[in-house]
Amino acid sequence: MELLENEIRKNGQVLDGGVLKVDNFLNHQIDPKLMQELGNEFARLFQNTGVTKILTVETSGIAPAVFAGLELGVPVVFGRKNKSLTLQDNMYTTNVYSYTKQVSNEISISKDYLSTDDKVLLIDDFLANGQAIAGLLSLCKSAGANVVGIGIVIEKSFQKGRRWIEETGIPIESLARIASLENNEVVFVGEDTK
Ligand code: G4P
Ligand code: NA
Ligand code: NA
Repeated sequence: MELLENEIRKNGQVLDGGVLKVDNFLNHQIDPKLMQELGNEFARLFQNTGVTKILTVETSGIAPAVFAGLELGVPVVFGRKNKSLTLQDNMYTTNVYSYTKQVSNEISISKDYLSTDDKVLLIDDFLANGQAIAGLLSLCKSAGANVVGIGIVIEKSFQKGRRWIEETGIPIESLARIASLENNEVVFVGEDTK
């Protein structure tokens, strides 16, 4: 998606270790107009899948997921990383290991908001190794819900996530695909390196 690629070129900062900092529009400050465009694009890409619900994980997946839900006319649920005092039982829970942060986090979702009737579109801000997506898939499996698609805002195609998701056969769409962050330079998939 050209609009997003331009935003990344303009406002993204490449940090050491293959990390792209996009705090200016996605991970800290949020650009609502851009988020709406991203949500509309997800809605367009997945409009024929029969999606009944969008599932994301807090925090940064929520903004694009809400705009996709607005356009598709379906509710948005987010996996919670910290157990809420008022939501103790009645939860599906899974463990997500973050390779970047080298910590394991629980992600939970109430059984009230995911069921065998649901056709779920998963949305997240970044795809690196895909541990967050693996966790969301596991929650859907526990609930017996059917996953009809996966939408990613920024995919780091040089990490492992994309490949194993393709092996599951679930349709995946990433709005920006980054081939390389070497030499502190963003190179998108399909773009020539100099
Ligand atoms: P994975 O889910 O693909 O395996 O990612 P990983 O564990 O490596 O990443 C942990 C967190 O860091 C996730 O956010 C993920 O979205 C984010 N992340 C991974 N690579 C990058 C990157 O290059 N740039 C940025 N900005 N983020 C990256 P999270 O902990 O769930 O945070 P949040 O959603 O609360 O912001
Ligand atoms: Na993040
Ligand atoms: Na995330």
